[in-house]
Amino acid sequence: MVVPYKHEPFTDFTVEENRKALQAAIKQVEADLGKEYPLIIGGERIMTDDRIEVVNPANKKEVIGYVSKANQDLAEKAHQVADETFDWWRKTKAKFRADILFRAAAIVRRRKHEFTAHLVKEGGKPWKEADADTAEAIDFMEYYGRQMLEIDKGVEINSRPIENNRFHYIPLGVGVVISPWNFLFAIMCGTTVAAMVSGNTVLLKPASATPIIAYKMMEVLEEAGLPKGVINYIPGSGKEVGDYLVDHPRTRFISFTGSREVGTRLFERAAKVHEGQKWLKRTIIEMGGKDTIVVDSDSDLELAADAITYSAFGFSGQKCSACSRVIAHEDVYDELLERVVQKTKEQVNYGDPTDNSNYMGPVIDQGAYDKIMSYIGIGKEEGRLMTGGKGDDSKGWFVAPTVFADLAPDARLMQEEIFGPVVGFTKAKSFDEAIKFANNTEYGLTGAVISNNREHIEKAREDFHVGNLYFNRGCTAAIVGYHPFGGFNMSGTDSKAGGPDYLIHHMQGKTTSEML
Ligand code: NAD
Ligand code: ALA
Repeated sequence: MVVPYKHEPFTDFTVEENRKALQAAIKQVEADLGKEYPLIIGGERIMTDDRIEVVNPANKKEVIGYVSKANQDLAEKAHQVADETFDWWRKTKAKFRADILFRAAAIVRRRKHEFTAHLVKEGGKPWKEADADTAEAIDFMEYYGRQMLEIDKGVEINSRPIENNRFHYIPLGVGVVISPWNFLFAIMCGTTVAAMVSGNTVLLKPASATPIIAYKMMEVLEEAGLPKGVINYIPGSGKEVGDYLVDHPRTRFISFTGSREVGTRLFERAAKVHEGQKWLKRTIIEMGGKDTIVVDSDSDLELAADAITYSAFGFSGQKCSACSRVIAHEDVYDELLERVVQKTKEQVNYGDPTDNSNYMGPVIDQGAYDKIMSYIGIGKEEGRLMTGGKGDDSKGWFVAPTVFADLAPDARLMQEEIFGPVVGFTKAKSFDEAIKFANNTEYGLTGAVISNNREHIEKAREDFHVGNLYFNRGCTAAIVGYHPFGGFNMSGTDSKAGGPDYLIHHMQGKTTSEML
């Protein structure tokens, strides 16, 4: 029997031994820079001439590595391998598949700092955020392994005296997993291993900014005993390889995490039935957010300011869960704003994330930098710049933590996902109005309410329409198995990653009935 699930503890970097261990791991990663990484199709390593150059976002001249790039021919080859492998993989025992994950989690845990150091370099993550990303990847493997064992126990249904009825879940088939760069290890790993442990075979297309960590995960899974062909690693252009795989008639399901723009496009494409296709494709599509913290008149303003500062600027605001809007009651608006601005100026320094004294690192690439800077320009017209508002892309892509005040609830800054260290403030006359403003975006991912008023908390529980709602804390940092994660409306299909129903999205129910 496996031990009960518990989430992976975070590393305490105030302990010198831990700091030294991560510093040593960063040195090791630096010694390995510039390596070449092949595709993995059916266990075979394939190098291509066309490659993705992966750079350190804090120092764009530093190449982390070169990753081979799949084209449509290689994507087709990988699809055929995954299809053939599914024939026997689907019949493997749940325990066999779960054991691979338990072993893989143990391998990552033993080499935790090595992975965390890599995330600092490839993703530009500060230590604390990188450590949490590694911990979450371990959690996904441990949790989904256990969930699969639970599902395998079956569900009791009724039988009449003359029959023997059974109901159980079977896997779907070949799944295409397309992951984002922001939780480069955790989300990439969670979405891939969920599909695999449910008995499916997988085509993994990681984000082009961060494909190396996915190669490293492949090595771990192989070491843990994953047979060839079950997960095929095929980085490549979203448009070329992504579209090809999504359209493929033998693709049974698509698990996508990323932007609303790409997610809705994939959703439409997946709906089209192609020649030779025998099913309607299942889609698990998790997209962006425009997440709000509501601060009530009766609330702990110090707690609120801490929650806002961390949720807005942790990992430079590059989380789907990040706080990008604050709706504060007019009675506390000015004081709260002052506290957040002061904390931002005093605590949120930024620079190279290999230096643990920096609260924030860079943003991921030139595209992100340009987009964020353009929103800062819009913010200057729509509201009052309180702090930040600057960027520097000379060495890496750095944006100052930025706070705007006095925005209209329907301002672009309060409606559109910026995905950077920018937070806007809006004033509300009452708690009811604050909840109305909080709900007025097309998204519905996370939200938080800071309040001492029990009635208001209960009202928000019913009326604040987001998939993950938190009280008296920030709106980021969901933990696998504790806070099942996923959003409403244009935030996605609410598949609830890290929750008890997640694996079922990768399966279908089968009823058998035998006459006695
Ligand atoms: P993105 O949509 O640009 O890319 C996501 C993935 O899709 C990448 O692997 C990319 O290569 C691929 N892709 C791009 N075009 C494609 C196409 N035409 N066909 C198939 N694949 C294609 O998103 P991103 O910039 O990597 O990630 C940031 C976004 O992800 C933000 O909007 C963020 O809110 C969202 N996100 C959501 C969640 C969640 O759980 N809801 C979690 C993390 C990130
Ligand atoms: N799980 C991540 C968070 O909650 C996205 O911040």
